[in-house]
Amino acid sequence: MPSRQVHLSGNLVAEEDAKISIFDSAVLLGDTVTESTRTFAHKPFKLEQHIDRLYKSLKVTRIDAGCDAAEMLRITTELLEANLPLYQSHEDCWLVHNISRGVSVPGPDPTVQRSSATVMIYTQPMDLRGWAKYYVEGCHAVTPMSRIVPSQSLDARIKNRSRMSYTLAEMEVKLVDSEAQSVILDIDGNVAENKGGNIFLVSDGVLKTPAPRNCLAGLSRETILELAQQLDIPSQETTLQPYDFYTADEAFFTSTPYCIMPATKFNGLPVGDENVGPVTKKLLAAWSELVGIDIAKQALDQMKS
Ligand SMILES: Cc1ncc(COP(=O)(O)O)c(C=O)c1O
Repeated sequence: MPSRQVHLSGNLVAEEDAKISIFDSAVLLGDTVTESTRTFAHKPFKLEQHIDRLYKSLKVTRIDAGCDAAEMLRITTELLEANLPLYQSHEDCWLVHNISRGVSVPGPDPTVQRSSATVMIYTQPMDLRGWAKYYVEGCHAVTPMSRIVPSQSLDARIKNRSRMSYTLAEMEVKLVDSEAQSVILDIDGNVAENKGGNIFLVSDGVLKTPAPRNCLAGLSRETILELAQQLDIPSQETTLQPYDFYTADEAFFTSTPYCIMPATKFNGLPVGDENVGPVTKKLLAAWSELVGIDIAKQALDQMKS
């Protein structure tokens, strides 16, 4: 069985041979911008938009990837095409970009580099088993003690690999419920985001989500807002607090792998009637139609194999 290829700084190499220096700024400093795209029926979803967001992150962090967005799209597509024959027709994959500042020099100036940027692009099977049951029963959303890193320190719109704060927040919610999913608040007590997703609620038929001041401008979030418009579901980007989630009719997370993860409990209390709600279902059905795949079924089918 041939192995998957990885794009590593200009070369396609076998996944098991893709090695980077222990002195890379990705390792030494967590100094890496990232994107995660997924395929639906082997077609990448919103790849151009992911690459556009990647180039915004690169610009703000002053990392020179060594090529422009059009070339990044070309090498990404080349890698995907090289690997797709290794995926079965019902399987989809992640398409991940990690770009670090390159090999770093320990010392007083972390901006000094010994190499050009380290460009890492890989595919991996889209394993949805961890999220599958939430399409049916919803998850338990819990607010951790830790707050989101304020955008005054690190703008939430920069999609980066410094994940310590998210991981610690996720550990805190798992102390409450081992399967809880975090709803991280900002330092003012407003709802921000999840460790890897955005969050929405539905109240009196209106879809609401935080504006991307304290959260990533997620592309799944954008897809939901687009679908809502097509479905005539009114939506608002607004400031939300835990109270709004306690009293909401529906709530859900959005992220590239699972698209929509319904939440039927918030900090131990039922959200609405504690069932996955009609607006959530309508949006999931519309997204499935958009990509020609029954999104929940794809995840649930993985549980059988
Ligand atoms: C912190 C954070 N928020 C939100 C998201 C959701 O973004 P997207 O919908 O583009 O996957 C992600 C995705 O990984 C994320 O890391």
